[in-house]
Amino acid sequence: SPSRVLVTGGAGYIGSHVLHALTDAGIPAVTIDNLSTGRRAAVPAAVPLIEGDVGSASLLEQVMREHRVDAVMHFAGSIVVPESVERPLAYYRNNTVNSLTLMDCCVRLGIDRMVFSSTAAVYGDAERVPIDEDSPTRPINPYGTSKLMTEQMLRDAGAAHGLRSVILRYFNVAGADPAGRTGQATPAATHLIKVACQALLGRRPPLAIFGTDYPTPDGTCIRDYIHVSDLADAHVLALLHLRRGGESLVLNCGYGRGASVREVLRTLEAVSGEQVPARLAERRPGDPPQLVAGADRIRQRLGWVPRHDTLEEIVRSALAWERSLEPGPQRAG
Ligand code: UFG
Repeated sequence: SPSRVLVTGGAGYIGSHVLHALTDAGIPAVTIDNLSTGRRAAVPAAVPLIEGDVGSASLLEQVMREHRVDAVMHFAGSIVVPESVERPLAYYRNNTVNSLTLMDCCVRLGIDRMVFSSTAAVYGDAERVPIDEDSPTRPINPYGTSKLMTEQMLRDAGAAHGLRSVILRYFNVAGADPAGRTGQATPAATHLIKVACQALLGRRPPLAIFGTDYPTPDGTCIRDYIHVSDLADAHVLALLHLRRGGESLVLNCGYGRGASVREVLRTLEAVSGEQVPARLAERRPGDPPQLVAGADRIRQRLGWVPRHDTLEEIVRSALAWERSLEPGPQRAG
């Protein structure tokens, strides 16, 4: 049997896009997911799905041996910033402690390659944009800290045990598989583009635009939105880099340009020909005015060339995916 890459959290939003990208590239994978937020249907048929917890060292070791795992991509974790403020210890357990367990198993079994899902939240309130990888890391919430602690463990495990890693710091991931095979399925998601699509389809109350008095050209926050399929391609390249014997890397994942909340809504309206029901609202606590990636390094080091890097393509794919979902009950938003 071939060596497989172990993908934790492969039934989730980003993990499932990566499983499809791996499968498209002919790279065998296996996934562990506890299906707490993920969906079985998001996992490609060719990929074995083991339902269970990545906090279990015995399960990890069993899967690693049985599937001759030679590399790990680690997506499983908690990602909601305000929740991390209310339940910090749950975030340190799910994100930091489970990552420690995973690294420990890798070291014990001689697996020396890991691609890790990190976040722009490790930078905290950026002093200047674009934010390159050498910018100071000063997270302002437990979510960002839980990811930064894992980054630190990876650096130390690299030095001590030869565990090589590619740390990918995601900016604002959005959109869906252009072929419609998977997308963001969490009904209670809080991300702008998802929420705007749900509001447009009448599946939740009007969108609240959080803050219109920011020091930006139109007063709304600016983010670097990256298409989830381009992000998935970056993961495949990161895996190939490590399999070639490449050194550890820390890479931002973004396009290096920003769009405001109003620009996102305008684009969605242009693509759909419909109005997005929206109201102006107070600033949401903890939102920095601008987050834009310094995005040169990932192109240089991995040869990454994005294929879906327009806001139009991002919102079009997100809306097509949203339409394909069964309309559930309206939720407070
Ligand atoms: N926004 C609204 N209304 C909404 C939702 C969002 O106006 O209903 C605005 C936000 O205020 C923000 C922008 O749209 O200005 C983007 O917000 P998201 O919630 O989509 O994304 P964030 O930039 O807050 O968060 C993202 C990732 C986090 C990561 C963070 C890094 O989702 O995981 O970037 O700071 F931690």
